[in-house]
Amino acid sequence: MMPWAASNVSPVLQGVNLMRTYGDGTARRSALQNVSVDLYPGQLVLLMGPSGSGKSTLLAALSGLLEPDSGQVLAADDDGRMCDVWQMSAREREAYRRRHTGFVFQGYNLFPALTARQQLELVLKWGENASGGEARRRADEVLDKLGLSANKNKKPAQLSGGEKQRVAIGRALVKNPTLVFADEPTSALDWENGQKVIELLRDAAHQRGAAVLCVSHDARLLPFVDVFYHLDDGRLERRALPAT
Ligand SMILES: Nc1ncnc2c1ncn2[C@@H]1O[C@H](COP(=O)(O)OP(=O)(O)O)[C@@H](O)[C@H]1O
Ligand SMILES: [Mg+2]
Repeated sequence: MMPWAASNVSPVLQGVNLMRTYGDGTARRSALQNVSVDLYPGQLVLLMGPSGSGKSTLLAALSGLLEPDSGQVLAADDDGRMCDVWQMSAREREAYRRRHTGFVFQGYNLFPALTARQQLELVLKWGENASGGEARRRADEVLDKLGLSANKNKKPAQLSGGEKQRVAIGRALVKNPTLVFADEPTSALDWENGQKVIELLRDAAHQRGAAVLCVSHDARLLPFVDVFYHLDDGRLERRALPAT
């Protein structure tokens, strides 16, 4: 059994009673209604739910991008103590995010002017002050693993949707983050590429011990994941995985 699969492992991230509304008056909409969730190292968690149910809002709150109205996001520090992400200063929170989290955005968010390799190198140079040589070596290692060896010097416009999605995943994983968030990473892909993407996320969890939270509409991903949550109108519910 993988060391992080032991039952006494503590969560690396906890969302506790998260509430978030948008707008006010009659336009007021509740996006998260008292959501609590624990993320564990080595686990790939799938979050499903209809459009507008609050999935992106939950990812943003847990990853330190969007402040909840109330509730806590507790993240394990290097000594395993839980620290409230939203009580940190903006600077501390940014440092925490840079150091510990990787985010795969819906729609890739790649820089049009940069090659696949440069997208990954940038993360290492800015995020970790890696030297040019070190950044290139690690970027290449990840791109090779993603089957992108022949595409390293191509810019997004020269890449297919599946290739762009893999570059976006490489960019999120190249720092070896303890937490990985992916917002509908397979939505623009055919099933062959979608399968590759969920396998990469599963490898990040199972082989490296990352806690991975993936949002998707696609029920075909269920056999790949360890835990399954359903979000409906801002309410989160853990569901049993279908028997395989
Ligand atoms: N910036 C925003 N301003 C106003 N309403 C928003 C904003 N972002 C999301 N919402 C609303 O909050 C609800 C949840 O949105 P979201 O988290 O994006 O859902 P999902 O990712 O599941 O589609 C929806 O009703 C959406 O319209
Ligand atoms: Mg969304």
